[in-house]
Amino acid sequence: MIAGGLWKLDYTAPKFDLSLVDHDTWSIFRYRAFMPLEGEQWREISLGEGMTSIIQFDKDVLLKMDYFMPTLSFKDRGAAMLIAHCKAIGVDSVVQDSSGNAGNSVAAYCAKAGIDCEIFVPEGTSPKKIDMIKSHNARVSVIPGSRDNCADVCRKKVDIEGKYYANHVYNPFFYEGTKTYIYEVYEQLHRIPENIFVPLGNGTLFIGIVKGLEELLKSAVIERMPNIVAVQSEHCAPFAKAFINREKHPAKIIPQPTMAEGIAIGVPMRGEEILEYVYKYNIKIITAPENRIMEARMKLAAKGIYCEHTTAATYAAYLKHCELNGKISDCLIPMCGAGLKSDH
Ligand SMILES: Cc1ncc(COP(=O)(O)O)c(C=O)c1O
Repeated sequence: MIAGGLWKLDYTAPKFDLSLVDHDTWSIFRYRAFMPLEGEQWREISLGEGMTSIIQFDKDVLLKMDYFMPTLSFKDRGAAMLIAHCKAIGVDSVVQDSSGNAGNSVAAYCAKAGIDCEIFVPEGTSPKKIDMIKSHNARVSVIPGSRDNCADVCRKKVDIEGKYYANHVYNPFFYEGTKTYIYEVYEQLHRIPENIFVPLGNGTLFIGIVKGLEELLKSAVIERMPNIVAVQSEHCAPFAKAFINREKHPAKIIPQPTMAEGIAIGVPMRGEEILEYVYKYNIKIITAPENRIMEARMKLAAKGIYCEHTTAATYAAYLKHCELNGKISDCLIPMCGAGLKSDH
């Protein structure tokens, strides 16, 4: 795969209908009728990802427990789909860059699939994420500088060595996995909540959620888009800044260090596409207050939810949103990463 390619898939899912869900498959592949899957390789590759619970956190908030996953983050939805595709087309070696969780996921699924794997992570990535990647026999290169620099170094390798770029941002198969987040919510609740919060760095869950909702809308399963609230880090907010003047491109910013390492993306590659969705569906963008991430993490932990700092940032942003605009009910917040993965 050429590193410069922000590919889009020429694939239209059939009309969504719960009767087409394979209720005997206990993973995201129960929705394979709506996924661009070739062959049956997914059967050997699945690690039982997806099917995460939704819990009532308080009277206004539902949490979707997406860290109840094989590698403890929501990225398994996308990686399972992407690596099933790689296996089906005969790829035997991949490279990928990541803030940690996507690399961890791709490494695990490559291990299951018997595909050679090298992951690039920026310096400062949580040591636990690096240990997990290595444990799956992937090679890890720690790159000095920012997350954006790490992506540049990895893409150079792809260009020079012609490696398959199993990247969660560039490769459109990843979104065909993350969209199952919405299918699941619908199957579990028989409806879509009014307010959907979503972290926004490179937008892999964001795009998956919008795609999933668009499919439900086109299939007349839902009548209108819910309110979507995208969350950026206060220290790294190219979309929030662009949104102020309704710009078409993410703003140029200098990322500052943040505990929310998972969304610390200064140069989001699918920036224009994401902003198109933002304006089309009246999506709000808010920032997570850095100095309240720990407090939010403790509030969640005090009720039994031990999530990583990036995930606590989404909850901190929800709390800020309520303070600024008043309480809102019927909110769905994703718990994307497990607490044991991040140290600060
Ligand atoms: C725990 C967690 N939450 C949210 C995100 C944000 O995902 P994206 O950059 O695709 O928007 C990431 C990305 O690595 C993550 O690890």
